[in-house]
Amino acid sequence: MKGRIGILTGGGDCPGLNATIRAVYRHASATHGWEVIGIRNGFEGLYTESYVDLTREAPRGLLAKGGTILGSSNRANPFAYPVELPDGRVEVHDVSAKCIKNLAKLDLQGVVVVGGDGTQGFAKKFVDLGAKMVGVPKTIDNDLEATDYTIGFQTAVEVVVDALDRLKTTAESHSRIMICEVMGRYAGWIALSGGIAGGANAILIPEIDYDISKVAERIESRVARGHSSSIIVVAEGAKPVGGSHAELESADATKQAKLGGAGHRLADALEKHCSHEVRVTVLGHIQRGGTPCAFDRELASRFGVRAVDLIAQKKFGYVTALRGTEIVERPIEEAVKKIKLVDPASEVVKSARALGIEFGG
Ligand code: F6P
Repeated sequence: MKGRIGILTGGGDCPGLNATIRAVYRHASATHGWEVIGIRNGFEGLYTESYVDLTREAPRGLLAKGGTILGSSNRANPFAYPVELPDGRVEVHDVSAKCIKNLAKLDLQGVVVVGGDGTQGFAKKFVDLGAKMVGVPKTIDNDLEATDYTIGFQTAVEVVVDALDRLKTTAESHSRIMICEVMGRYAGWIALSGGIAGGANAILIPEIDYDISKVAERIESRVARGHSSSIIVVAEGAKPVGGSHAELESADATKQAKLGGAGHRLADALEKHCSHEVRVTVLGHIQRGGTPCAFDRELASRFGVRAVDLIAQKKFGYVTALRGTEIVERPIEEAVKKIKLVDPASEVVKSARALGIEFGG
């Protein structure tokens, strides 16, 4: 063996992580003769020195397998890490120096960091401290500016479309308004793509604050035209005009806010305006589980290969990206400087409006 590289998966999981691990492992070993070390549970494994030797284990069957065999954590911020003290108290420490030391002990040619904006933000800080890291963007939210698509997004959209097809038939049987709450954090990509492909009558996204009377009017005008049922997709980050995000838990130094409740809040408001019964389905983590769709398997495979190429070229501090149909690399800061949001004036939103879809604003 001529050397070895590392790989970790950080943040919330998504379909396609294992396909990325497979691609990195295959290209690194077959093309370069490198060993591959898996770092467990995102950056947590770097701090606790928890590793798996992927070369010795030679994992199989990863292309279609959901989740991540390495584990992941969306609370493993090495720059604000909750450390338990001997007396049981928990203090938030910056453990990045220990991670850098552990990295030196591993003597890697480079580390592939598979993650969303949070994880890539940590990778950027490590690169600034001298670490040899390259990024692969993944998140069902598709909210990374550097790339047209992130791994996991298309599979999540497929789940939403399947759910909407099913909700439609039961909505018709009972003449109901069905609200489907989907993930995406502060970006409306999943709601928008899933809602258009699934034939939603209204799509409420964080980028367009909704006026409940507009949504209700559209539903009631459908009733007047003989449509007894309606489907509304609401992004978890959507909010009414003058309102705030629906949160179950607020953020602190170690974790981001937990969103939730947008669907039920909308149902409560809509019931006051509409004649039909309203029901809410919260799709939740079903959107993140299970086997990746064909698009995500291909994207993960191509991203994995490019990430290994970047290490071979010693091009650290870059993330892989899809631009049009080509895989390219972009500086990591482009992936983390701001989240990619839906432009309310974009063609896709205009097309959705042209199809008669209500946005509430
Ligand atoms: O970022 C991916 C995502 O699934 C978001 O869409 C969602 O808000 C969040 O993660 C949920 O996180 P958790 O798994 O901690 O509940």
